[in-house]
Amino acid sequence: MNRATLGRKLCRVATNAVVARPGAWSVFRRPIQRLFDALAPQWDTIRRPDHLAVYEQALDALPVPPKRALDIGTGTGDGALAIARRFPTAEVVGVDLAERMVAEARRKMDGEAGVEVRFERADASKLPYDSASFDLVAHANMIPFFDEIARVTAPGGHVLFAFSGGPGTPIYVPFERLRRELQRRGFTDFAEFAAAPGIALLARKETSS
Ligand SMILES: C[S@@+](CC[C@H](N)C(=O)[O-])C[C@H]1O[C@@H](n2cnc3c(N)ncnc32)[C@H](O)[C@@H]1O
Repeated sequence: MNRATLGRKLCRVATNAVVARPGAWSVFRRPIQRLFDALAPQWDTIRRPDHLAVYEQALDALPVPPKRALDIGTGTGDGALAIARRFPTAEVVGVDLAERMVAEARRKMDGEAGVEVRFERADASKLPYDSASFDLVAHANMIPFFDEIARVTAPGGHVLFAFSGGPGTPIYVPFERLRRELQRRGFTDFAEFAAAPGIALLARKETSS
């Protein structure tokens, strides 16, 4: 089995395990970080050029521009940059576990005149942000940590989950599961998007929760 196949398998096993039991992350944190640190220099060349098409489609559906947005598992930063370009008045933060991904994302900012994004190294299982501090919490091809997502999302704010390759994406969570976990934590108004092969889910946090 080659390295790419092994990497995809690791992502799939880690995603399924962590969604079923978030405590399993302690087993996967180190190998996932190593995998993405190794992939960082070539990440932009191994993805499809339109890999964020469905993520951007969901951004277009937001009823109001976010004031503070977080892109979790930002990789080389394209999701965070897409938010910042679309909503120039928003304060945008992109976080990733892999230091080399964060370094690549910061480097990309050099060519982005007039667009502000702060890239930080952080673990999505324990985010270094206050509760209710973002009104958009976005993920592209990223393992969800539902308790932290619910904690940092402000009442009335939105969460976005996009999977560039649909169910074939190595990091993929079925919408049924996403909806169940989010509903339990006070999210509502689910909307689905498709831009083949990508799919995305948007939801709003209830104001009363
Ligand atoms: C499949 S890549 C997706 C990158 C980017 N969002 C994209 O679509 O191009 C997953 C990213 O999530 C990061 N990641 C995985 N687990 C994480 C965690 N617990 N906290 C923060 N980042 C994490 C990885 O380092 C990697 O950069």
